[in-house]
Amino acid sequence: MPTAPVNAGATRWHVYADAAQVAQQAAGRILTGASRAIAEHGVYRIVLAGGRTPEQAYQRLRNADTDWSRWQVYFGDERCLPPRDPGRNSTMAARAWLDHVPIPREQIHPIPAELGAEAAARAYAQLIRRARPFDLVLLGMGEDGHTASLFPGRTYPEDEDVHAVHDAPKPPPDRVSLSRRALGDAREILILVTGEGKREALRRWRAGEPLPVASIHGPTGVDVLLDRAANG
Ligand code: 6PG
Repeated sequence: MPTAPVNAGATRWHVYADAAQVAQQAAGRILTGASRAIAEHGVYRIVLAGGRTPEQAYQRLRNADTDWSRWQVYFGDERCLPPRDPGRNSTMAARAWLDHVPIPREQIHPIPAELGAEAAARAYAQLIRRARPFDLVLLGMGEDGHTASLFPGRTYPEDEDVHAVHDAPKPPPDRVSLSRRALGDAREILILVTGEGKREALRRWRAGEPLPVASIHGPTGVDVLLDRAANG
């Protein structure tokens, strides 16, 4: 790991033909990151994105050739819904991937959002304090430029690693989200953006608007994997 930030603040845009190719590239980068982290420090700490975009990439990981016993899986945000609720990000990841691979269950760390936003944020902050820095953080982007559960027009305490969110414009309103600071504390940050619906937010991001997705920076920059439909 370089001591000085390498390309910190750089955003690298990678355009692919379609969502399937974005998923393939994302899965490949996730696995390359795993090989590197496991070789270098014996563990791979990955933060998963929610929403629909990463689902294809997760499905491609089901049959991966990797040492699952070295993986530690965290979540970038969660909706305040009961465990295994179909609307949860942890349920999507489980059905698409995690239920199909032998990662020890105690190494998969869902956000306990069923406890309510405040209690879950407090509990998760304790957990990720011991987990950082992450090896890879995976994120998506909403059509308004949000990422994780960090939404435009809101301010979030800079001294928090995990936020309790109560006014999310994307239902449900109550959520838990890693903070900009925690999401940026990663060797590699991948942001997946696909579909025509993301075109306007992507344009605003590239035009320099201070969108939440644009506020995530890591010591080696950010890689945005997008398809032609989003690229416009
Ligand atoms: C969530 C996600 C959210 C998501 C974006 C994009 O809980 O909804 O964490 O940040 O990544 O809204 O969602 P799609 O991938 O479904 O477009």
